[in-house]
Amino acid sequence: MINKSRVVRIIETKQETPTVKSLFFHDDETAKSRPGQFLMIWIPGIDEIPMSVSSTRPPGITVKLVGEATETLSHLEKDDEIGIKGPFGNGFTITGQKALVVGGGVGVASLLPLIRRLAGEGKDITVILGAKTKEELLFKEEIMKQVGRDQLIICTDDGSSGSKKIASDLAAEMIEKNNYDQVYTCGPEKMIYKIFEAAEKRNIRLQASVERYMKCGFGLCGSCCIGPFLVCKDGPVLDNNILKEALDEFGKLRRDPSGKFEEI
Ligand SMILES: Cc1cc2nc3c(=O)[nH]c(=O)nc-3n(C[C@H](O)[C@H](O)[C@H](O)COP(=O)(O)OP(=O)(O)OC[C@H]3O[C@@H](n4cnc5c(N)ncnc54)[C@H](O)[C@@H]3O)c2cc1C
Ligand code: FES
Repeated sequence: MINKSRVVRIIETKQETPTVKSLFFHDDETAKSRPGQFLMIWIPGIDEIPMSVSSTRPPGITVKLVGEATETLSHLEKDDEIGIKGPFGNGFTITGQKALVVGGGVGVASLLPLIRRLAGEGKDITVILGAKTKEELLFKEEIMKQVGRDQLIICTDDGSSGSKKIASDLAAEMIEKNNYDQVYTCGPEKMIYKIFEAAEKRNIRLQASVERYMKCGFGLCGSCCIGPFLVCKDGPVLDNNILKEALDEFGKLRRDPSGKFEEI
């Protein structure tokens, strides 16, 4: 039952960057997840929060430390236990032959299984990997292994690695110049919004994994709505057509835990 919490033991951890850590465990359901799906992670006495599946062999999540729940997860080590539910959500649909994948910050966690799948199917992929600084570039070596050095384009806000550019500007330039038939992205919503505009201009299908505040993770509470859609059930991967129907909120507004709108 994916809606029931299962307790799993951590078999391995990896510090990916100074503030991002991966936790690996055994779980048959997570091992069968589709790229882009997520788990609800229960941290007893603290919170239950959504985390993308960043690996299926072995199953794993990749956590960026931002607050109390993620700090607790970041301190876990081998043999500690967590509760998991899921995998939930739709995940990415693999279509087309020539794809641009754009990941910013910890958003790359949900894109890594997708990149592995696209590479495994022999698709022509270019990846833009963005972060604030060189130290925060996530999964650089693994992505290079999957797509090759020439197909990985790095950018950092401070110019400490790759171009000194923001990922959305670089993506917009590349979408303008190349004939991609699919754009996949995950990261800060302002970044996703700019990439959506660039893809729309060239009439290219875009699939973006977006975040909203989640309480249940499987369509019951309504806390994760964006326009008429529920991110946990209709998403987290939303395509251009869905995003066009949520333009009053997409890139601009999200609901806080009490349901009130706040600016993104
Ligand atoms: C589908 C999905 C996949 C995600 N995947 C990842 C991932 O792979 N790695 C990762 O590090 N983070 C991921 N996140 C974000 C992660 O859930 C939040 O960073 C985390 O919940 C923060 O909790 P906290 O107690 O540490 O921080 P808090 O101080 O409680 O919150 C910090 C910020 O995190 C966000 N947040 C807090 N609680 C939730 C919640 N229940 N649902 C959604 N957002 C919340 C809010 O924007 C909040 O302002 C994902 C979010 C979603 C919706
Ligand atoms: S998180 Fe409850 S409906 Fe989406």
